[in-house]
Amino acid sequence: MTPFHLQHKTILVTGASSGIGQQVAISISEMGANVVITGRNEGRLTDTFKKLKNTNHQQIIADITNESDLQQMIKVVPMLDGIVHCAGVVKPFPIKFISKEKIKETFTVNYEAQVELMAQITRNKKLNKQASIVFISSISAAHPHKGGALYAGSKAALESFSKVIALEFYTMGIRSNCIAAAMVKTPMYEYSEQNASKETMDEHINKYPLGVGKPTDIANATIFLLSDASKWVTGTTITLDGGFLLGGM
Ligand SMILES: NC(=O)c1ccc[n+]([C@@H]2O[C@H](COP(=O)([O-])OP(=O)(O)OC[C@H]3O[C@@H](n4cnc5c(N)ncnc54)[C@H](OP(=O)(O)O)[C@@H]3O)[C@@H](O)[C@H]2O)c1
Repeated sequence: MTPFHLQHKTILVTGASSGIGQQVAISISEMGANVVITGRNEGRLTDTFKKLKNTNHQQIIADITNESDLQQMIKVVPMLDGIVHCAGVVKPFPIKFISKEKIKETFTVNYEAQVELMAQITRNKKLNKQASIVFISSISAAHPHKGGALYAGSKAALESFSKVIALEFYTMGIRSNCIAAAMVKTPMYEYSEQNASKETMDEHINKYPLGVGKPTDIANATIFLLSDASKWVTGTTITLDGGFLLGGM
């Protein structure tokens, strides 16, 4: 059988109520995984749930920045063979407008909650041997943009955290990797579009030799990282950018 399948694997997907997380949940269910999806918005999470292939899935409404939601989630999640951390926010600010509150707003979702989730999952022994952890990072972690101090910083911190997981859990065969994505068409992309002029966005998009990404582009790479096909891959970041970082356009 192909090593790319996800049969007999139970995978938790955060941020599954929208965009990349929704597509990841759908695509991994198509590859045979049992999926546990989580998000805050009940209507949109249920919409994702209805789109999952096969049965044996579970949905948990939770704000991952809320301590009691997180604890409740840890209690009800089954033993996991993988986690895909898709929950995240993007809030661009020029440095002079940054405040403690704004730092907290971004870092609580994009970094703290994901670290806390991993701490609680491992403390409660909810990870099976050979499990695979995937974080959805951004090319801005290594290639920051103006206004991206908080977002780029939070993703850079996440990439370091992923490497520490790889080092602390390799004896159990547990792997951890990141996907650094460039622009992908999701509601987050629409939010960026509202915050920049159409000209700025068009100019940016024209720099992608293969066009901007689709959620399925991220989901397909996630399948690889969750599957046994990537059993020799850990502590690294896969860049998915449609050729944007080549810089030749
Ligand atoms: N789109 C891009 O161009 C792009 C590029 C690089 C990296 N990424 C990363 O990919 C990930 C997904 O982005 P996306 O484009 O799919 O964004 P999106 O459509 O805005 O989805 C964000 C998801 O995060 C969840 N979320 C946010 N705050 C949360 C909280 N406190 N508790 C629980 N869930 C929370 C949202 O849940 P609710 O809606 O239910 O609140 C939603 O499901 C993010 O980490 C983002 O940084 C995106």
